[in-house]
Amino acid sequence: MKINKLILLFVTTLLAFSCTNDEDNNFNGSELIEPETIQASFSYTVSPTDPYVIQLENTTNGTVQYKSYWDFGLGEGTVIDEAGLDEVRYNEVGDYTVKLYAIYDGVTTVESKVIKVDENGVCPDGLCGSTSNTSLKDAATTFSVGTITRSSWLSAGGKYTDIIKEQFNNLTSEYEMKMNVMYPSQGSYDFSAADAIVDFAVANDINVHGHALIWHNATPSWVEGFSGTDAEFETMVKDYITTTVTRYKGKVRSWDVVNEAIDDGSGNPLRNSIFKQKMGNDYIKKCFQFARDADPDALLFYNDYNMASSSGKRTAMLAIVDGLGDLIDGVGAQMHISYNGPSASQIEATANAIVAKGKKVHFSELDIRANPDGNLTSLTSERSSLQQAKYKEVVEIYNAIPSENKFALTVWGIRDNKSWLIDFWGNPEWPLLFDDDYNKKPAYYGFLEGL
Ligand code: XIL
Repeated sequence: MKINKLILLFVTTLLAFSCTNDEDNNFNGSELIEPETIQASFSYTVSPTDPYVIQLENTTNGTVQYKSYWDFGLGEGTVIDEAGLDEVRYNEVGDYTVKLYAIYDGVTTVESKVIKVDENGVCPDGLCGSTSNTSLKDAATTFSVGTITRSSWLSAGGKYTDIIKEQFNNLTSEYEMKMNVMYPSQGSYDFSAADAIVDFAVANDINVHGHALIWHNATPSWVEGFSGTDAEFETMVKDYITTTVTRYKGKVRSWDVVNEAIDDGSGNPLRNSIFKQKMGNDYIKKCFQFARDADPDALLFYNDYNMASSSGKRTAMLAIVDGLGDLIDGVGAQMHISYNGPSASQIEATANAIVAKGKKVHFSELDIRANPDGNLTSLTSERSSLQQAKYKEVVEIYNAIPSENKFALTVWGIRDNKSWLIDFWGNPEWPLLFDDDYNKKPAYYGFLEGL
């Protein structure tokens, strides 16, 4: 009797306890007997060691024993899913629908995903070329991808330097390696900004393209108004080139020795710069010789604009190349172009002409105007797509150059709002690969697609 009472007390306490407990948990007794449902689910990643292989993982949730099968989309039917990672290789370019079937309690559920494969392998997240995560420099396996910089931007660091390090392996100074900055007054050099740029590049394994030793537009006023004989002028130029190139020997891979020497006027004669006036028609050759003597390992370039749009200028450039012979290693075609011109065949003609001379090609200052007529106040998606297509076209043309003639493709800036073109043309303009907030634009993906 005493025992019976005790049992009753125990059961009552238990009931009271479980009721409180049930209430706390919002328990609904009917859930207990409902059968577990299973929903097929999987994820995949591209193999880190083979871009054509995906690693599939069954992520179906469930504590019950269910059966599962893969259909890898290779036309081979279904295979039983083994526990662990399933690796599948897709040898051919195309779209494949991968399915995972999960079967439990007579119910079959399925998840399917389309695997896209292009020439580079499986596209990460199903997004090929245009939106894959490859950096520009990694995607361009046969040439360097360059951009420009300023010492103040490098010292500010942050996202700006992150992008440089991530995307580019060639660096050009926007204006601090020009004569007016490096040699501001006679006998007194200022290499502080140039040093900062070169040091940053060397520290980050980025090639430096020295730009530009001689340019009529960046000549210091004391040189323009030089007081001395022609012979003294030439000695001064020799000293400047020798001092500068020697300073960066082994650190600057290449130099634009002379920039924009060709006049746009009829017949494209040599521009009548102070250098031509004081040193004669062969001033270009003399400057190349000074640079060659200072650093025989540096690659020496002649650089100019409108190489694609003007066949006359191209002819004049080729004459300069012929006159220089072995003193010149390559030609920089600036490529300040627009979404609607010059045409692909004009750009190709530029590359082909340089290749035919056995020289390296540098598309040295690429930017593509989206607003050449100045009628846009913001970048429309239509114009942005046309710009993307033009970037793709230019990169495709560059990429098709024989490997021994490839050198670098340099984009003249990173963010649209810092482009020199805004001041130069006085229009709103969005000519680059990144927007003002460092987001990749369609133009960026056009560049990648070109590769
Ligand atoms: C431009 C720079 O972008 C500007 O910041 C600077 O004020 C002037 O020069 N062709 C060239 C480049 O070779 O050096 C020019 O760069 C753009 C045109």
